[in-house]
Amino acid sequence: MVKYISSNSPQYFAFNVWSIPSAKAVMDAASQLKCDIILQTSMKAFQQLDIEEFHAYVKSYSQKKKINTYLHLDHCRTLDWIHTAIEYGWDSVMIDASDKPLDENIRLTNEVADLAARKGVLVEAEVGQIRGQEDEISSVEAGIARMEDIDRFVKNTRIDMLAAAIGTVHGQYKGVPNLHYQMISEINEITDIPFVIHGGSGLSDEILSRLLSYRNVKKINISTEVKLAYKCGIEESICKNGVEKSGFDPLVINSQIHTSIQNMTTNKLRLLGRTS
Ligand code: G3H
Ligand code: ZN
Repeated sequence: MVKYISSNSPQYFAFNVWSIPSAKAVMDAASQLKCDIILQTSMKAFQQLDIEEFHAYVKSYSQKKKINTYLHLDHCRTLDWIHTAIEYGWDSVMIDASDKPLDENIRLTNEVADLAARKGVLVEAEVGQIRGQEDEISSVEAGIARMEDIDRFVKNTRIDMLAAAIGTVHGQYKGVPNLHYQMISEINEITDIPFVIHGGSGLSDEILSRLLSYRNVKKINISTEVKLAYKCGIEESICKNGVEKSGFDPLVINSQIHTSIQNMTTNKLRLLGRTS
């Protein structure tokens, strides 16, 4: 089976979605640019979705739109949910045991790698907690991952994608992002495992392009900006269409939300340098 992410693969943006309409908006942007895409489900979204229906929709719609859409389980901390995602056809899973001691992180990651490999599912894992907020999990005290931990981690695990804290944060940035770019090159010197940037929301186009200039950066995660685009769609439709004047029309609001998420996605995907 061909790995959709590898040292030779294209680079991807991965967008967190929580519903069929949010997934459709992202896929519409991707299909317009003829771009393959990753849709991620946070644990909270995964637990609330009808995952069978969601999987069937995503795969059939992306086939209709002639793109590849890969489903990824984001920041999963328990083996049970990893099992479920694999069983229901997710293409990749992230085991996030970055809050555990390194040896325990390695042990758990390998447990996941073994069961995923049997089904041809790719595995992402994290070393050194990435700051910020993801679902209810907060890791605001964490800092930059230690290179010796990253080195030991990649030498002792069998993973397909590596995430490590290099200064990005989940959620909104307070002040100017302070990224340790040299770590990306240092990581590339010790391993060719594709590197994943978490906390992509709030990074300027210039920063995102700089990150994409590293050939080992293969996946950039965007979650908060998808939610902000959703919010913006609601706000714009209410302001522009004057609910009092023209009445409350859910179709207008849905369409504005779709446009808002699609436009945000298009702007990110253009940074990959693929235009139609
Ligand atoms: O795993 C998901 C992300 O790393 C997204 O972070 O909400 O800052 O875009 P973000
Ligand atoms: Zn993340």
